[in-house]
Amino acid sequence: MKGLIFNYFEQYISETYNTDIWESILENAPLESGTVFVSPEIYPDGDFFSLLNQAAIELKIDLTQILKEFGTCLFGYYVENYSSLIDFAHDPKKFLMGINDYVHMEAKKIMKGATPPLFICKDIAPDKLIMKYYSDRNLCMLVEGILIGVSKYYNVYIEFKQTTCTHRGDDMCTFELTFSEICPYKSIC
Ligand code: HEM
Repeated sequence: MKGLIFNYFEQYISETYNTDIWESILENAPLESGTVFVSPEIYPDGDFFSLLNQAAIELKIDLTQILKEFGTCLFGYYVENYSSLIDFAHDPKKFLMGINDYVHMEAKKIMKGATPPLFICKDIAPDKLIMKYYSDRNLCMLVEGILIGVSKYYNVYIEFKQTTCTHRGDDMCTFELTFSEICPYKSIC
């Protein structure tokens, strides 16, 4: 996993909770690569999972909740730093349909060695989209959080139902999305 994601995780913990908690997570998580994460470098996925698990212990919050919250903030950080990869789409459905062929493709050019997940999208109705998420990292709760971030950014409500999940033995995670204009969310992170 790219150092960038570790850096954003630090930013999320420090801003949402505080820097002391981040220091304590770093100190107590078993890490293969040490405690300094540089954005362009690549670190073992296991270290990212260690930090997530330690955060759940220190904060006494369910791991799935942390991933979801982090996903929402992560999209906020992308909006601040990579708006050129978002501007091509004026609505969330077009944006999400472009994740593989544009967003992650361009991200891979800027961030050497990044291995983002694969999304296969099926456009089944004007207000609906089916997204299949494929990744050995099995971070579907992060996807859920990012979807909330996307929803907030475009001010379009994205209602989603997860109909398959690798954590339940399926081959991939499937999200069935419905878009509607009334959005209950406020700020991004
Ligand atoms: C401007 C927008 C985006 C940028 C710049 C971006 C970039 C990246 C990068 C650099 C990684 C790390 C890959 C690695 O470390 O090997 C990543 C991972 C990931 N991205 Fe994106 N991404 C964007 C939007 C999205 C969206 C909209 C979704 C889903 C709805 C998404 C889902 C994920 C997930 C789940 C991962 C974690 C790794 C995995 O599951 O294997 N990303 N992304």
